[in-house]
Amino acid sequence: IDEWEIDYVHGQDYESLKRAAQDLIHTNVPVAFPTETVYGLGADATRSSAVKAIFATKGRPADNPLIVHIHSLPQLRALLSGQREMSDGSLQAKNDSIPAIYRPLIERFWPGPLTIILPAPTNSILAPEVTAGLPTFGARMPRSILALSLLRLCGRPLAAPSANASTRPSPTAAEHVFDDLEGRIHTIIDGGPCEVGVESTVVDGLSHPPSILRPGGVTVDQLRKCPGWENVTIGYKDKQEGGADKPRAPGMKYRHYSPKAEVVLFEIGAGRPSVEELKVRNRIGIIRTKSWESALSLTTDHQGASSTKGNVGEMEQPAFASSTRNDSSRMSNLLRSVMQHQVPHAQKHTAAEGLEVWDINLGASTEDVARGLFSALRELDKKNVDVIYVEGIDDQVDDDIATAVMNRLRKAAEIRL
Ligand code: TXA
Ligand code: MG
Repeated sequence: IDEWEIDYVHGQDYESLKRAAQDLIHTNVPVAFPTETVYGLGADATRSSAVKAIFATKGRPADNPLIVHIHSLPQLRALLSGQREMSDGSLQAKNDSIPAIYRPLIERFWPGPLTIILPAPTNSILAPEVTAGLPTFGARMPRSILALSLLRLCGRPLAAPSANASTRPSPTAAEHVFDDLEGRIHTIIDGGPCEVGVESTVVDGLSHPPSILRPGGVTVDQLRKCPGWENVTIGYKDKQEGGADKPRAPGMKYRHYSPKAEVVLFEIGAGRPSVEELKVRNRIGIIRTKSWESALSLTTDHQGASSTKGNVGEMEQPAFASSTRNDSSRMSNLLRSVMQHQVPHAQKHTAAEGLEVWDINLGASTEDVARGLFSALRELDKKNVDVIYVEGIDDQVDDDIATAVMNRLRKAAEIRL
């Protein structure tokens, strides 16, 4: 990929990326950039002063380690052997320093939404702040062309958490980063809405059996199909029953993904908000997924009559707002194609007197729900709703990213464990 990635970015886009790369090399101000999962807030992972600025900018607790983003396997091997990358990007390791357990995963999912936990060498060139004192570090090769190009142009690994202010929902569009970090950073690389919409799956192959530390864009099923990963365990806890005893990915213990409004999550099978419940509030947000009927019928007293509408086949299509990005002269074909990942927007209903309802229909596919989720939480916050009712999805299935979606929603709803 060292050759083609930059070839795809031309003209002004290329110049912008080069400028951002120079900023990353020469200053301590982090740069926000798109990945296929969520936007990241990047800094040179080898310089403490730059990495510290990430924590300060986000208001992130210092004991929560960061993921190191790389553009190639030679670059990762350099990190594992403690060597600096050669200026021409070349580096030949004597024997492969990447643990064998990760080989099938790397082949199948990189570049992509997977983070692997690796041993940090004693002579590590990573700034100690990246790993927050742990003897390991997380590494990920993103598949966004813009992210790969930026990494290549920097020639150094970028430590990058999600580019939200700490505790807020992760940013899946440049606007979200702007809303949270305006005045604190100089550059946001705008690649349009993110393709996946939830963060990478974090896996630990150094433990026996290997475990999933955070559910994300790669599914449990996909992992189990890889040699050595058939018995992968769930190493995070987001439900009362099952799961591990304590959270093992440090980031899981903090308040997370929280909009300002209260979030009320209806797990699958838990029904839906009653008309009485809705009428206690003045401004309500509703996020629908696979089967709740329109907010209008949820808020009027004829649920019995409308209940037959509660199936996927008859649900109306999500409402897409027209794109605000029409200054095509400034964009390459590449960026225009990246920007096709639209997400649905809120529709306003005035239900009963004094009751204002903002309704978002994320659609019936799990991929669409994942892509639109954080954006929906943020949009409803901007409408100043008092409460957001969310229709959960079934995460008992392992073959889609419903586990990641429900994990984020349970945290947003602040389910205390
Ligand atoms: O998709 C993603 O992973 C995004 C994009 C920007 O790449 N990044 C992201 O970073 O979500 P962040 O900082 O929001 O989440 C990093 C997660 C946390 O749960 C953290 O605890 C875990 O990775 N992590 C990082 N290093 C670790 C380590 N050495 N051991 C265990 N968990 C680690
Ligand atoms: Mg985060």
